[in-house]
Amino acid sequence: MQANSIRDASLAAEGRRKIDWVRMNMPVLNSIEDDFRKNQYFKGLRVAVSVHLEAKTAYLAEIMAAGGAEVAVTGSNPKSTKDDVVAALAEGGLHVYAWYDATREEFTQHQLAALDIRPNIIIDDGGDLVHHMHSEKRAYIDEVWGACEETTAGVLRNRAREQAGELAFPVFAVNNAYCKYLFDNRYGTGHSTMDALMRSTNKVITGSTVVVAGYGWCGKGIALRAAGMGARVIVTEVDPIKALEAVHEGFWVMPMEEAAALGDFFITTTGTKKIITTPHFAAMKDGAVLANAGHFYEEIDIEALGAAAEERRELRRDITGYRQADGRWINVISDGKIVNISAADGHPAEIMDMSFAVQALSARYVAEHRYELEPRVLRVPEAIDHEVARLKLQGMNISIDALTEEQRKYLEDVEK
Ligand code: NAI
Repeated sequence: MQANSIRDASLAAEGRRKIDWVRMNMPVLNSIEDDFRKNQYFKGLRVAVSVHLEAKTAYLAEIMAAGGAEVAVTGSNPKSTKDDVVAALAEGGLHVYAWYDATREEFTQHQLAALDIRPNIIIDDGGDLVHHMHSEKRAYIDEVWGACEETTAGVLRNRAREQAGELAFPVFAVNNAYCKYLFDNRYGTGHSTMDALMRSTNKVITGSTVVVAGYGWCGKGIALRAAGMGARVIVTEVDPIKALEAVHEGFWVMPMEEAAALGDFFITTTGTKKIITTPHFAAMKDGAVLANAGHFYEEIDIEALGAAAEERRELRRDITGYRQADGRWINVISDGKIVNISAADGHPAEIMDMSFAVQALSARYVAEHRYELEPRVLRVPEAIDHEVARLKLQGMNISIDALTEEQRKYLEDVEK
């Protein structure tokens, strides 16, 4: 393995404080950590992790190490890596390759360096490690038992690889587990995206018009929270069913071409590219703020915006202003990179408690069922979803009813 690639080892104490804080707010992971430490499911195994490298991810990586694995960690987006957390992980003995704001080349080098651990299990966010495993690091591919994919974009990439007949090992679609997308994509993205907007701009949300592009799970959460804060919400969609859902939720629905002139804030979360581009920039108000909460950074066409601008200036930390020929400023947060992690701390720990519990238990499933799994994109077993929900309720001190024998029998009879 290469030596660690980190920016500043002296930041470790602050990084450790951040990891300790999230650990105090992740009860499901706490109980999984105890179990992994005791039962050493990963003893002798090598694990590579590429997830937005902040404190909650660091805790997940340390839990894998507590379970006996040798662990290499890298980021999944150059803007979301926190150098202090990276330093703490390195001090704790993990192999770490990441720094904030890495260039595209550095970022790829970091991911490739993490794969030099020759992983048996991959924990991925966006499909980069699985991609590199099938290309630059193909020499090690037979050593991979399976991967666990965190986000919608990565699941789609892996599905495409599966359909092309090229997927060489099983990949659990962690994103598609109930305990992931219903909470993380919806409530987590809603909370942390509005947090990022407020932190970076310090502008008022109430009374403003927020345009949300894409009414999938992330878009639903953002629209919900923006409306709750007093904004008028406009949704843009291409799927007629999602569009209808948004209408019935009380939001305005229209094409981006019409919404462009009305919005004060624009948030894209479609997972595709060029959602906001030249004709939209031309119609926008002076001072419009643009942010992207999707995984890839191409949703806002920054290149076109930059090419047409007379001036480009850092107006505030995390905000770049582009002055148009007619004097209007169009302001972009974090260069269009995933905003809630680039300009804030990502989802709250309590939410990631569930997502990363699904990751950890899916990784354990790979370790224990290696020979039964086909090289396909797989659903996370329902038992894992139920276990995570049960542990989460327990951690929140909430108990629920159970079916009586009479009710169970009644339901069985109805089903017949
Ligand atoms: P989803 O598939 O549930 O929703 C995407 C929505 O965008 C769909 O309803 C689709 O019809 C719509 N869409 C596609 N093209 C469009 C267009 N041209 N104009 C308007 N709408 C369009 O996906 P989900 O789970 O909401 O994820 C969206 C993106 O956010 C993905 O890239 C995903 O990886 C990422 N993500 C980001 C998170 C964060 O923390 N910021 C957390 C989870 C996912």
